[in-house]
Amino acid sequence: MTKNCLKLKDLTTEEIMKLLKVAITCKQGQYIDSLKGMIVANLFFEPSTRTHYSFNVAEEKLGMKVINFSSASSSIKKGESFYDTVKTFESLGVNALVIRSEINEYYNQLDKIKIPILNAGDGVKNHPSQSLLDIYTIYEHFGYFKGLNIVIVGDIEHSRVAHTNIEIMNRLGMNTYISGPKVFQDNSAKFIEFEDGIEKMDIVMMLRIQHERHHENMKLSQEEYHQKYGLNIDRVKKMKENSIIMHPAPVNRNVEISDEVMECDKSKIFTQMENGVYVRMAMILRSLGENYDSIN
Ligand code: CP
Repeated sequence: MTKNCLKLKDLTTEEIMKLLKVAITCKQGQYIDSLKGMIVANLFFEPSTRTHYSFNVAEEKLGMKVINFSSASSSIKKGESFYDTVKTFESLGVNALVIRSEINEYYNQLDKIKIPILNAGDGVKNHPSQSLLDIYTIYEHFGYFKGLNIVIVGDIEHSRVAHTNIEIMNRLGMNTYISGPKVFQDNSAKFIEFEDGIEKMDIVMMLRIQHERHHENMKLSQEEYHQKYGLNIDRVKKMKENSIIMHPAPVNRNVEISDEVMECDKSKIFTQMENGVYVRMAMILRSLGENYDSIN
């Protein structure tokens, strides 16, 4: 059976914990060159820095040959469809596909593709590799999930990261809260005022305002947003002693988070990026590794 990784809802909690376990061994230096001879194509139809090049590094560490597709210089420009583009790479003989698209659940169009697809983000719906690296980073710091309080602050409605994280974090026994401007909230978790919640949180996760995803409702200037909802050093001082700061990035410095907080002691923002390589190695091994099932 083809082992896609399209959304974390498709995976049991045990399967997710196994991915984290394999990612830990990847971080310890295991599985280098274990997929030598295989070819993967990274198809990014939407801009990306971290996810794209983190998959790229993960694939290189596993010894794979990597094709990085650019839609801007492809036959998409001549009217070729999304499906035909993906089907072309399957026909060329690649072993797996990493795909990001602005289309919600784009993979519903790809039922006929028989090689593994790893979802690198679809519209406002799912971002499984981001959530895996987020929970990996949380587990690395705390060593457990149950009972941890997290607030995700910002543009919840348009955030595939928030939606994917809330589902898996609830499943892992964490207490999830959302905060930020009311106009950007949905019903995905309990709302808490930012100022009220910050003192009791173990994790404060800030999100970028996604201007590219239509924000006619955003009435605040960047300065006003920063003043009201930005994580500045005064707010960091109110946080619990062992608490951490996260952000999926890209970051708009001095809007949702101030410069001085980006690399402060509590910040795990660049650790998240580092860990992204190892969870993506684990995801690829799950789809293509011969011995993955026998790891316990
Ligand atoms: N966090 C994240 O998905 O970043 P990119 O858009 O740069 O891949």
